[in-house]
Amino acid sequence: MSFSRHLTSLIQAKILVADDDPLVRDAVVKILELFGHKVVAVEDGATALDTVSEDFDTIILDINMPGLDGFETIQALNERNSEIPVLFLTGAGSMEYAVKAINLGAYDFIAKPIEDLDLFDVKIRRAIEKRMFVRREKSYKEDLEKEVREKTKELAEKNVLLEQYSHNLEVSTLNTIITLNIALEEKDQYTAGHTKRVTEYSLLIGQAMNLQGDDLNVLGRASQLHDIGKLVIDVSCIQKPGPLTDEEWVLVKKHPEIGENIIKPLDFLGREVEIVRHHHERLDGKGYPDGLVGDEIDLLTKIITVADSFDAMTSRRSYKVNMQRDEAVAELRACSNTQFDPVVVEVFAEIIAQHTE
Ligand SMILES: [Fe+2]
Repeated sequence: MSFSRHLTSLIQAKILVADDDPLVRDAVVKILELFGHKVVAVEDGATALDTVSEDFDTIILDINMPGLDGFETIQALNERNSEIPVLFLTGAGSMEYAVKAINLGAYDFIAKPIEDLDLFDVKIRRAIEKRMFVRREKSYKEDLEKEVREKTKELAEKNVLLEQYSHNLEVSTLNTIITLNIALEEKDQYTAGHTKRVTEYSLLIGQAMNLQGDDLNVLGRASQLHDIGKLVIDVSCIQKPGPLTDEEWVLVKKHPEIGENIIKPLDFLGREVEIVRHHHERLDGKGYPDGLVGDEIDLLTKIITVADSFDAMTSRRSYKVNMQRDEAVAELRACSNTQFDPVVVEVFAEIIAQHTE
């Protein structure tokens, strides 16, 4: 055996040796140091447990030691989830000990006295390589977990931005339409402020009826959009003094469907599209465009119908004299159950009464 070969092929490592026999201990330390390793030597298991730390690459344990023996020491290391390979120093012919050590998770055995240095070197190097492999695996796993965590966080942040962007886009699209509607409405003295007032009345009714969740938002948006279809109807028809001709009525009555078609491409306005289409339906089925009856008309639509009619009656229209508020409320009540939902009419009548006092 040649020491020079060992000295040129060494992997430097930090090794803990525990043996109560000073002769054996010193011999093991000397050999390991000759191989170029850094060695910490202790005389029993308890001191080994106090000394060991993550930066050790291999542990060599004697079996018979005062206090904690080799088996109890490896059990204590197992309980700490130590991943450092443990080699046992065993006397010749102690097969029973060897089996017990294997069952306890020992990595290998070194027969003492140490006579075959080549074999000793191989066993130590194998244990060190095992330790390096475990370290690399652990660090790879940790890096991978860190990367996955960072990517997940990054993705979540991008998602929030995307959702925010998409929401902003929806809001600005909606605002553009509403602004256009209001601008055109303001050009006509008979319709100026109609949408704003209908929206206010509708929201007051919705709040009084305790609408929950998204219903109030939908009600507000649908109110703002209810007459959007009038954008494409010749205003001279709406503005003209005196009653409309049959042909003009046919044209005006198309505005719910036209409004529906204008906002239909905006996917986020699903419920509003339905309300815009049906805001001239009546409980008795005589409304347009679908002649819906009773509860086929949903609550939000019923609310807008009342608010819309009240504003039409109380604000100056081209062919009718505007009514006083109490006259308009009386008219709403007169048309309860035929045109309007009686509950909505009464809620609104209460609101008007409070606001008139
Ligand atoms: Fe309308």
